[in-house]
Amino acid sequence: MFAFRHQPLKALYYTYVLISLPVRFPYWVLVSALPAWRPRRSWTLRRAVMIRLVKLFVDTGYVVDLNLSRVDANVKAKHPERVGFVWVDAVPAELVAGEVAGCAKVNNISPVRVPGYWYGQRTADGEWGQRAEPDEKVLYVLHGGGYFGGSGAPDGLGVPSIVNGILANCKGLFRRAFALDYRLSSTAPFPVENPFPAALIDALSGYRYLVEALGFSPDNIVVEGDSAGGHLTIALTRYLISTGLPGLPPPHATILLSPTADWACTHDTDKNCSMERNYATDYVYPILKGGYTARALTGALPPDAIYSNAYLSPASLKIAEPAGLFKGFPPTYILAGGLEHTLDGMITLRDRIVNDCGTECVKYMEYEDAMHDFLAQEWHEPERTQALLDIQEWLGDVFNV
Ligand SMILES: *[C@@H]1O[C@H](CO)[C@@H](O)[C@H](O)[C@H]1NC(C)=O
Ligand SMILES: *[C@@H]1O[C@H](CO)[C@@H](O)[C@H](O)[C@H]1NC(C)=O
Repeated sequence: MFAFRHQPLKALYYTYVLISLPVRFPYWVLVSALPAWRPRRSWTLRRAVMIRLVKLFVDTGYVVDLNLSRVDANVKAKHPERVGFVWVDAVPAELVAGEVAGCAKVNNISPVRVPGYWYGQRTADGEWGQRAEPDEKVLYVLHGGGYFGGSGAPDGLGVPSIVNGILANCKGLFRRAFALDYRLSSTAPFPVENPFPAALIDALSGYRYLVEALGFSPDNIVVEGDSAGGHLTIALTRYLISTGLPGLPPPHATILLSPTADWACTHDTDKNCSMERNYATDYVYPILKGGYTARALTGALPPDAIYSNAYLSPASLKIAEPAGLFKGFPPTYILAGGLEHTLDGMITLRDRIVNDCGTECVKYMEYEDAMHDFLAQEWHEPERTQALLDIQEWLGDVFNV
């Protein structure tokens, strides 16, 4: 991994990938020309080609470095009005409690101020971050990106497709959404930075900002996260439930889009597990199987924490006593693609929440022909439009409107 991370190899490798595209592209079209040649007969030619392009992008990151998918908050902060930029204050250290405080001590993590971005309605004078109106609801967004990359910024990739999609479909419910850029993690061969629980503490700062600084009732907050952001949504919600911080009860509901529930890959037991079976139809294999994110999150914690600690892998099959992990969880929508690498873990996650909270607590929607995190990909139709309608309907039930 990362063999071409230094210059000039890095520049050479990027050049190679770029100039290979005009050759690869017609080749991909050719080998996908007939439905029978595609990973799924039901897939369109476009989807069969797009999966190869996305795979190439992800794979390149693991050959060079993961910097392409990083966003510099200081650059965004220069034009706050363009991207709804705000700084979010760090939570006071005493709000970091229990098991998480223990991990923070081992990994030397303290709360810091973090960037966030507003989507949707501004005040009359064009400002963002105004106080909540009476009974106003808000969508709190935690982006994906394997904990090494991605951003919630509205001028980026992926998250805007999700957030603008939900806001457009749920106009009567949300006037705005707030996306947080929590600290990203890295590890060898790069500098060791921000292992667990850095992102969780930041997600808590963002939640507290909405509740205490802006006056949103937790009962009016829906936390939505895709991929690693779905993982973070689970961790934040479990943390709020288990610590019972004064004034910070859990949110009204959560939306988990292709959540990464098993960083330890404990479901990969045979050739027919989703990780192997879906090799041709999904793109996160190196993110999970390469183990880079798992190591970056673990930091100085004991290496077995990645499969024994429910904050790190809430669906791990190696957790000794999974019953009760999700006690008190709010209504939760889990979106899964039927062709995802991490499908098995999402099914375990669903079953665990159902065991603790009942079937009515979970809406599990598996879209048969879909790949990972497809709401983030505007071209992934018709599933994307369908899922946005499904989420809208479910939110209507959850808020009884
Ligand atoms: C990003 O690139 C810089 C310069 O090449 C390097 O120092 C840093 O470690 C990289 N970080 C990651 C996470 O790839
Ligand atoms: C592989 O797993 C899938 C999903 O559980 C199942 O539908 C399929 O029949 C299995 N295939 C084999 C060969 O066991």
